Amino acid sequence: MLNEKIEHAFNAQLNAERYSSDLYLSMAAWFYSQNLPGFANWMRVQAKEEDAHANKFFDYILARGGKVILSEIGAPPGRWDSPTAAFENVLSHERKVTGLIHDLVDLAAAEKDHSASSFLRWFVDEQVEEEESAERVLSQARMASGSPAALLMLDREFSTRTFTPPAQARRETQAQE
Ligand code: FEO
Repeated sequence: MLNEKIEHAFNAQLNAERYSSDLYLSMAAWFYSQNLPGFANWMRVQAKEEDAHANKFFDYILARGGKVILSEIGAPPGRWDSPTAAFENVLSHERKVTGLIHDLVDLAAAEKDHSASSFLRWFVDEQVEEEESAERVLSQARMASGSPAALLMLDREFSTRTFTPPAQARRETQAQE
């Protein structure tokens, strides 16, 4: 059984992951409006990853006998000044999420909830990858800025990104059995 503090904090993170998904989907829409469908694809894949993160929290809260509470998550921004500005937003957002995950790790340790600590380890590692990937694409967008040819090449490269689901959520697996 989850204690109340952890249940509350995990629900907050579930909702933060839902917001992240909306933020990246909004960036995808903006990139489509800029005629950069490869960049838009990169963002759509990112949005799917965030949905998968939200579902991990969803399943975990239920598995521990907690109650899932979906709350208002607010509307994401809808426009950015440039591709570089959008990717700067991605990086700053991911750094913020890393801070939220680390706060959860501290809380789980303070509450001596070893199962929650173990569950969170995946997210600690995932955030390293998330920040690394955001830094790489930001640096590429900066290099391409001001050069339409370079931007189009990058757009082609980003069109090949595909979504790889993390280990399938337990409840989804059960539903298919
Ligand atoms: Fe769910 Fe991009 O962190």
